[in-house]
Amino acid sequence: MFYLTLIFHSTVRYFVLIAMLISIFRSARGWFGGAEFGKTDEKLSVWLLIMAHTQLILGLLLYALSPNVQFSASTMGEKVLRYWTVEHIFTMILAIVLITLSRITSKKIAAAAGKHKRVFLYNTFAMLLIVMAIQMSGRGFFGITM
Ligand code: HEM
Repeated sequence: MFYLTLIFHSTVRYFVLIAMLISIFRSARGWFGGAEFGKTDEKLSVWLLIMAHTQLILGLLLYALSPNVQFSASTMGEKVLRYWTVEHIFTMILAIVLITLSRITSKKIAAAAGKHKRVFLYNTFAMLLIVMAIQMSGRGFFGITM
């Protein structure tokens, strides 16, 4: 159960990252190039939200199952335990909150340039957090645990 969930979680990361990259690229182009906020942008932001929340659910499941998530006196002193028990969940939830806010708050903005700007800034920051957190895991950026 743990490994199956880990493989899913590890794979969904690519869906999140690809959707984010496309969204950041399109919103930068829309913001600086004055493009409208079209159906593709709308669909992309829903897709990214679904992927991020799927990742959250899988992550919460893993949090309950992982041998690297421990609440003991030595957790904070041990690099691997600290990363998976505290740092990973904290950084990733922050990134998922930003992705969610990018969708909710951009919907309330009327002007296309404003929508693109909001999506660009929030998703770029979320992307930086995710990239940083994966780097910090020590498993390599494209690493999958087998
Ligand atoms: C966009 C959000 C997230 C991304 C991109 C992400 C990415 C990853 C990656 C790349 C791994 C390593 C997979 C492997 O070794 O094959 C991992 C493992 C894990 N993640 Fe996440 N994660 C995210 C969100 C979360 C959240 C929100 C939680 C907790 C609620 C979480 C909990 C875990 C746990 C417990 C592990 C397994 C640690 C172990 O191997 O023992 N993740 N995640």
